[in-house]
Amino acid sequence: MSFPPGTTQSFEAALAATAEDVVKTLDRLLPRAEGPEGRVAEAMRYAALGGGKRFRPFLVCQSASLFGVAADAALRAAAAAECVHIYSLVHDDLPAMDDDDIRHGLPSTHREYDEATAILAGDALLTLAFDILADPETHERARVRVELVRRLAHAAGAHGMVGGQMIDLASEGRELDIGGVTRLQQLKTGALISFCCEAGAVLGRASAEADHALHAYAHDMGLAYQIADDLLDAESDARTLGKTAGKDAAAGKATFVSIIGVERAREQARMLADQAIQHLDLFDERADLLRQAAHFVITRRN
Ligand code: IPE
Ligand code: IPE
Ligand code: MG
Ligand code: MG
Ligand code: MG
Repeated sequence: MSFPPGTTQSFEAALAATAEDVVKTLDRLLPRAEGPEGRVAEAMRYAALGGGKRFRPFLVCQSASLFGVAADAALRAAAAAECVHIYSLVHDDLPAMDDDDIRHGLPSTHREYDEATAILAGDALLTLAFDILADPETHERARVRVELVRRLAHAAGAHGMVGGQMIDLASEGRELDIGGVTRLQQLKTGALISFCCEAGAVLGRASAEADHALHAYAHDMGLAYQIADDLLDAESDARTLGKTAGKDAAAGKATFVSIIGVERAREQARMLADQAIQHLDLFDERADLLRQAAHFVITRRN
């Protein structure tokens, strides 16, 4: 894959601009830390505003821009997806799951607060996501809002992210074949990434053809994204990542890296990124940042 000089810069600038916008939107939508229940709102804010690439919001905003969706509506859907992502990280870091002390270069939420508060903050981030999508400010048509809610519920639930996390935990110390790991990764990471790529099509009431193309793009991007996460876990360090490195091997996790090794996993991610770009052929240059996103997914440093 090669891009003209300067395009990486413009991709990074676009990602940073979306990150800034989505943080402002989250800041507005998250509850204020007030009253006797204020501690949970404080923990939600700590987890959600503290950092992260905001790559899922970027996918929502870029897919929405293909269909001329208003930026405010796209940012609300983007914030909803990010709430689910942040909740998944807060719970993923708990002692009962990956038992991680660092996230985004800071103490993970249960280390900064306590386990019960982290569980509740995650629960409330998940429900906030649906509150945001169901609000008429996200889209004037109830059918569109219900479709977003339905798709996000499916992506987050037992046959989506939660299901993937279940397989991930159950597979610790056990061998999975390549098909098993592919399913694990599609569910734990791919399902939410698919929602993000399709949300713009739902908001923009796109054709079935465009929706399918984005679905196919997202399928390859989701897998490539998690393979890159596994490669970074194997090869990078906590300073660069802002989270503990080397923990997949230590926990005996089944990953692409544990099954096919670093070189073939890297090759697989590259192949998936190339394939993702081909699914965008029916879109014009408005999809260029989504094309560049495929490159970012496999070259990112954290
Ligand atoms: C980390 O995701 C967990 C995965 C599902 C791969 P990100 O790398 O996108 O998390 P941020 O950018 O730190 O929020
Ligand atoms: C987590 O995968 C995926 C989620 C749904 C949270 P990982 O456990 O590999 O994510 P990191 O490496 O802790 O960010
Ligand atoms: Mg995990
Ligand atoms: Mg983890
Ligand atoms: Mg990981």
